[in-house]
Amino acid sequence: MAKLLYNQVSNKKGEIIMYVRTSRCLIRPFEEKDLNRFISYRNNLEWMKYQGFKGLTAEDYRKLLLVEPVLQNGAQFAILLLDSSQVIGDIYLKEEDGCLWIGYTIAPDFARQGFAAEVVQAMAAHLKEAGHTAIYAGVEPENIASIKLLEKLGFVFTHTDEYDEKIYRLHLSD
Ligand SMILES: CC(C)(COP(=O)(O)OP(=O)(O)OC[C@H]1O[C@@H](n2cnc3c(N)ncnc32)[C@H](O)[C@@H]1OP(=O)(O)O)[C@@H](O)C(=O)NCCC(=O)NCCS
Repeated sequence: MAKLLYNQVSNKKGEIIMYVRTSRCLIRPFEEKDLNRFISYRNNLEWMKYQGFKGLTAEDYRKLLLVEPVLQNGAQFAILLLDSSQVIGDIYLKEEDGCLWIGYTIAPDFARQGFAAEVVQAMAAHLKEAGHTAIYAGVEPENIASIKLLEKLGFVFTHTDEYDEKIYRLHLSD
C-alpha cells in the first residue's frame, strides 16, 4: 500500500481541510492557478466519457471548485506532482447517508503510471485514520480501466444501482 507520508488537517484560518501527501503527489483543495489545467483534461469529452462533471465553463468550474471543501456537499481535490506542482488529476469525496463515496480522474498525459492507484490508496489510508470504515465507488460497466483499478485496490463489487452503475466497496477496518 502507498505510504501516507504526511497529512495536515487545518488551514490558515484554523478550519479543518485535507492535505494528503503520497510518495509522488500532493492532494489538496483547488486553487485558482489549477483551473486551466483542470479544464484542459476535464473538458476532454472523449477521456471523460464515463464521468460526469465536465464540459462546463471556467466560471462554472471556478464557482464549484474554489470553495471550502465539505464532504457532505461533495468535495473535489486537486492532485499535483510534488516535484513540479503540475496538476495531474483530481479526486472527489462525498459523504451521503453514512457512506463515503470516492471518484478520481488522472489526466490522459499521466495515465498508466500508477498515479490513480497511489492516490486512492493514500486517500483510503487517510480516511481510515480519520475513522471511516468503508469507501464506495460507482463505475459505468464499460469503464474497464476504472473497474480494474478498483479490483486491484481490493474494492469488492456489491451491486448494480438504479442508474446501471456498478457499485464497489472497500472495507477500511483491519
Ligand atoms: C481510471 C483512471 C483513473 C486510471 O488512472 P491511472 O493513473 O491510469 O491508473 P494506474 O496507472 O494507477 O493503474 C492502476 C491499475 O488500473 C488498471 N488500469 C488503469 N488504466 C487501465 C486501462 N486503460 N486498461 C485496463 N486497466 C487499466 C490496471 O489494473 C492498473 O494496474 P496495472 O498497471 O498493474 O495493470 C484513468 O483511466 C482515468 O482518469 N480515466 C478517465 C476518468 C474516469 O473514467 N475516472 C473513473 C470514473 S469511475
